[in-house]
Amino acid sequence: MFFTKYPHRANFSFAEGYDEATGALTAGSNTFQANVTSHEGDIYHVRIAHPKLWGENLNLETLEVPAECKRARLKTGKGFSLSLTGQDGKALITGQFGVSGNTSMFAFKLGGDARFFGMGEKNFGRVELSGLRSKFWNTDVWSDFHYAQWGEYPTDPSYFSLPYLVAKIGDEYVGFLLHNPYPAYMETPGTDDSRVFVEWQRTSTELQLGNEGGEPNLWIIYGPTLPELTRKLQKLVGTTPLPPAWALGYHQSRWGYGGHDDLLHLDAEFEKYKIPCDSLWLDLDYMNGFRIFDTSKEMFPHGAAETASLLAKNGRRIVPILDPGVKFESGYSVYEDGHAKGVFCMNVEGKEFIGMVWPGETVFPDFSQSKSRDWWAGYVKKFAQEGFGATWLDMNDPSTGPVDPQGMLFNKGKAEHAAYHNQYALGMQMASRAGFLKARPKERPFLLSRSGFIGTSKHAAIWSGDNLSNYFYLKISIPTAIGMSISGIPFSGPDIGGFGGDVTDPLMLDWVKAGFLFPFFRNHSVKDSRPQEPYAFPKPVMSVLRRYIRLRYKLFPYLYNLFAQQETDGDPMLRPLFYEFGDAGLEKIDDQFMVGAAFLQAPFVEENAKTRAVTLPGAEPWFETSTGNWLEAGSHTVKQDRLASPVYIRSGAIVPMQAGTPTDNKKDLAEVHFHVFVPPSGTCESEIVYHSDDGISFDYKTGARSTLKAKMVALDGNVAIVTDAVAEGFGPIDVTWIFHGTVKDVRVNGAQTKLSSAKLTLTGKELKAQLAAL
Ligand code: NOJ
Repeated sequence: MFFTKYPHRANFSFAEGYDEATGALTAGSNTFQANVTSHEGDIYHVRIAHPKLWGENLNLETLEVPAECKRARLKTGKGFSLSLTGQDGKALITGQFGVSGNTSMFAFKLGGDARFFGMGEKNFGRVELSGLRSKFWNTDVWSDFHYAQWGEYPTDPSYFSLPYLVAKIGDEYVGFLLHNPYPAYMETPGTDDSRVFVEWQRTSTELQLGNEGGEPNLWIIYGPTLPELTRKLQKLVGTTPLPPAWALGYHQSRWGYGGHDDLLHLDAEFEKYKIPCDSLWLDLDYMNGFRIFDTSKEMFPHGAAETASLLAKNGRRIVPILDPGVKFESGYSVYEDGHAKGVFCMNVEGKEFIGMVWPGETVFPDFSQSKSRDWWAGYVKKFAQEGFGATWLDMNDPSTGPVDPQGMLFNKGKAEHAAYHNQYALGMQMASRAGFLKARPKERPFLLSRSGFIGTSKHAAIWSGDNLSNYFYLKISIPTAIGMSISGIPFSGPDIGGFGGDVTDPLMLDWVKAGFLFPFFRNHSVKDSRPQEPYAFPKPVMSVLRRYIRLRYKLFPYLYNLFAQQETDGDPMLRPLFYEFGDAGLEKIDDQFMVGAAFLQAPFVEENAKTRAVTLPGAEPWFETSTGNWLEAGSHTVKQDRLASPVYIRSGAIVPMQAGTPTDNKKDLAEVHFHVFVPPSGTCESEIVYHSDDGISFDYKTGARSTLKAKMVALDGNVAIVTDAVAEGFGPIDVTWIFHGTVKDVRVNGAQTKLSSAKLTLTGKELKAQLAAL
């Protein structure tokens, strides 16, 4: 696998003959079977079969395909030309299909100015991905690239492959999903002059995408808007099941925490400093000599269950790491058992494939086989029953160290490596989720994984792999997470503070302020680096870190409801500005983002920056959370401030929050404060749908959920609110209404309220507000 070499159009034979009635398609010396179907929601599937060349489609996960319907926008023509019509009746894209051996290519001419986004986990450091060539092959970046590259330059490919591209053509959005597990490539038109030293480095004026092997299965999704497109994609690949509430808290991890003693020490420190923290993570050190499913007795002298029950008093869980590599060692029961049951990957010589990971020589469960997944799930079940709250699936790219992974075969040695490489982590996630469900059928499982593929959204959250404690990685964490969000992976985040190297005080502050509302919020660092727990910093730094962690908990009802909305509608939590606003030029902003529709963040991500530019989109003013001032939409310059951070709330927003300042990880969804942000005009309107449930079980799916809808209209400072308790399956929702901005009079369901003064501290000074009581 060459990371920086891409298929070239001239080496392909493009389809010449196509019989619409039978689907017979000829390209070069081969005849293929083309099948084009149309599905509800303007979703199209182009499948090109050739059993001899490509065999079966080997995807482990299926898509949630909407019902078939009459073809509307996608037309096939002479020579299998594919065209998709836009709103004005003209073609948005016109494409051809070609083959070069078993490599396939779809090449599209674009019917207007085009910009590109998405591509899942990419480290190019920008949201817009025009003028690029990229590969999709799950990679252990630190092992497969030289330090000089990953230290502070983009690496491609990355840990996670999601071969999905968003194209904005004119004002309409189209998505392209390659549902084929073989390595994929994409080449997007556009100019990236910083990369073009020699003319041939310039990308084609066509959009080209395809796979190096495997049956071509292209899904073309018509938006026309980005939110509509993203919702359709998310439903197709599977929305992320509502996680347990604790998974949305703050997580403390470090390579080096051992077992019982370290965990109780951490628990006591978080308690002492009153820093909320939901879980404590264990890296490799808790195992007996890197042997998975073999917890060291030295680390847990009384068993992990006892430690877990002590931590449960403060509502904390233990999350240990699991690698797929099983130590190749006779006498090690997990290896012996797997060997006897034939669950490991084979090599070309018909023996177990051996790679080199932490324990030295390792074998790898063959997750392509259901028998191996069941075997793994059985061990995960016991592991969960030991007292572990969740697990963290690492090295599942799969990383084989210095050993060439191509020799690792699947399905009893019958399937080549490339067929399952990109979905190795997916298989591990499917099996691990099944294991947790076996152990605790009533609890929502939570998994974190490094690698993954299309379908991962249904099983695991993703962290962006190994980063460094430097400003390069802080800065790219925003476009990387946005790319994931609009590519169907809504639950992601980087190692906060940076994994490798020693974080500085200013970097830690900037990183926590930038990441405290990311979907996944975990502080993780490498062995022997500077201690990175919030309380390990000097007091003035610690108190600011703590403030932002507490603020995440204060905003927990908002974040949790964004996840609930994602599960039903498919909207991601973290969004690019142009997801919400149509203003020109927003796609060039890589250092700002939206959290839901209400919050805009413009964190400091440049070293030593004293000021930064902030763009507030749209036409309405924004509430500055550090001062309580309303800022006009447009360009602003803000000053760096140790305490504050540029976080803004949208005009008219209703933001559900917990009462007070959380000092622990308790989460109350039923008793909630709705903060309403009324702009200086006193005129705005908005709606909220708010859910409350037990935060842990699946009962919310069978009625144990309460839902409150509220509609708010403000006119010259006179506010009228109408609420509707749509469901009370989890008991009544008790709302306190608090107003920010210009409010003279508030009526709730027609009844006049009494306004009294209230206070709120967000990212800066204490703000004055008004509480409306009936
Ligand atoms: C690689 C992972 O990316 C990192 O987070 C972890 O600490 C190390 N493996 C050691 O397990």
